[in-house]
Amino acid sequence: MASAARQTGSDPRAARVFPRNFLWGSATASYQIEGAASEDGRTPSIWDTYARTPGRVRNGDTGDIATDHYHRWREDVALMADLGLGAYRFSLAWTRIQPTGRGPAVQKGLDFYKRLVDELLDKGIRPVATLYHWDLPQELEDAGGWPERATAERFAEYAAIAADALGDRVRTWTTLNEPWCSAFLGYGSGVHAPGRTDPVAALRAAHHLNLAHGLAVEAVRERAAADAQCSVTLNIHHVRPLTGSEGDADAVRRIDALANRVFTGPMLQGAYPEDLLKDTAGLTDWSFVQDGDLERIHRPLDFLGVNYYTPTVVSEADGSGTHTSDGHGRSDHSPWPGADRVAFHQPPGDRTAMGWAVDPTGLYDLLRRLSADFPDLPLIITENGAAFDDYADPEGNVNDPDRIAYLRGHLAAVHQAVKDGSDVRGYFLWSLLDNFEWAHGYGKRFGAVYVDYPTGTRIPKASARWYSEVARTGVLPATD
Ligand code: FCB
Repeated sequence: MASAARQTGSDPRAARVFPRNFLWGSATASYQIEGAASEDGRTPSIWDTYARTPGRVRNGDTGDIATDHYHRWREDVALMADLGLGAYRFSLAWTRIQPTGRGPAVQKGLDFYKRLVDELLDKGIRPVATLYHWDLPQELEDAGGWPERATAERFAEYAAIAADALGDRVRTWTTLNEPWCSAFLGYGSGVHAPGRTDPVAALRAAHHLNLAHGLAVEAVRERAAADAQCSVTLNIHHVRPLTGSEGDADAVRRIDALANRVFTGPMLQGAYPEDLLKDTAGLTDWSFVQDGDLERIHRPLDFLGVNYYTPTVVSEADGSGTHTSDGHGRSDHSPWPGADRVAFHQPPGDRTAMGWAVDPTGLYDLLRRLSADFPDLPLIITENGAAFDDYADPEGNVNDPDRIAYLRGHLAAVHQAVKDGSDVRGYFLWSLLDNFEWAHGYGKRFGAVYVDYPTGTRIPKASARWYSEVARTGVLPATD
C-alpha cells in the first residue's frame, strides 16, 4: 500500500470510509466445503477423482467430508449473520444437480441450494451464486472434458436448470471461477483436476470455457429476474517485469496474454488478442474457434469479479529455466503454452503460508489498470485473503494478526483505488471457513473462521471479528 499512498499523498494511518453501498462478503466453493460427496445423488466430479488418485493431493486429503457444510449450512449462515456480512459468494456443485452432467436435474440437489439461499435471504445476506468452481462432472471429463466443445453446450443446459430453479431468489450470478486455473492448471501443468498435461488441450479448454461463459450468460438472462446481474470471476494476474529490459517487457506481454487477455479479449471485447494467436501459432491454428463463437462469448456483463492474492514477476529466459510459478502446485509441465522463454521470480516481501508474497500495491495497480481498460465495467473483488499456520490456543482462541495485517493492507489498496476513480462495488474475503485447499488439501488455512476438522467445530478467528467491524461500519479503522 505504501506506494499507492505515496502516489496520492494520503496518510496511510487515517481511517478510510468506503462508499455507502459497498458490499462486504465472504466466499467459498462447493468442493472445498460441502463434503457429503455421495449423498442425495451426488456423483464424482473431476476433483473427487483427482483427490482420490494417490500422489495428487497432499496427505491424500479429499473433499469427502470437507467442512461438512452440506449438513452444517444453517450454522454457517448464522455465523455470517453474527459477523454482520452483507453477501455470500458460494458455488453450486454441478454433480449434485446433474450427476452425469446431462439430463434432468436431481431435486434434492436443487433443494439444498434453495434452502441455503432462503436462509441467506432471511438473514439479509445477498447470495452470489457461482455456477462453476472447478468441479466438472467426471462423466463429462470421460467424454473429453473442457477441450471438447460439447462440454460448453452441457454447461449451458446446466446453467439453464440452475437459473430456472434459483432465478427467483438469486439476483447475482457468476458463470465461472478462474477459468485460467481450469484450463491451464487442469490441462496444462496438471496440478489441478483432471491433471492432464497437454498444452493444446489447455488452449482448447480456454476457448470452450469462454464459450461456456457466453452461453451461460445467455441462459441466465433468459430465465432469471429482469434485474439479475451476470458476471465472471477471473484471477487477473498482475504481471510485472523483473527489469526494465525490452526482453522482460515482452515476457510481461506474453504472460498477460495467456493469463488475462485470453479471457478478457473474447469476453469483454469480442476477439482473441492477435499476439496470443501469434505466440501460440506453433501449437495450434485455433481452428476450434467456430463462426459465431465470439459473438456468443461477448455478452454484456454487469460487473467483473476479480480474484487477487499476489503479483507475478517475470523475465526473459533462455528456454532452459523454470517455467512454473502458478502458485497452486509444482509440475514439470508448464501452465503457459508457448511461453518457454519466460522465467518466473518470487516477488520480494513477506510471504503467506502458501509462499505467496504479500503485496497490496499489486491489487491497487490491477484495479487501476482494469478501470482504464474497461472504464464502464464495475468491479467486485470476489476473492482476496491469505493462508497462515493458524491454531487454537489452550483457551480456544485463534489469533491471526498476520491475516489482519494482510486484509488491512489490501482493503487500504481497494479504498485508494476507489478514491482514485475505480468503480469497485464490493469485497469478498476468501474464505469464510478453513477448507480443502485443492492440491494442498487441508494443510493451508484461509478461513476467517477456524475449523477443527476432527469435530467440525467452528471458531471465529481474531480476523473474523476484525473484518466484522469493518463490514458493519464500512470503515477501515486508523492504525496507531
Ligand atoms: C483461488 C481459488 C479458491 C482458493 C484460493 C486460495 O485460486 O479460486 O478456490 O483456492 O485460490
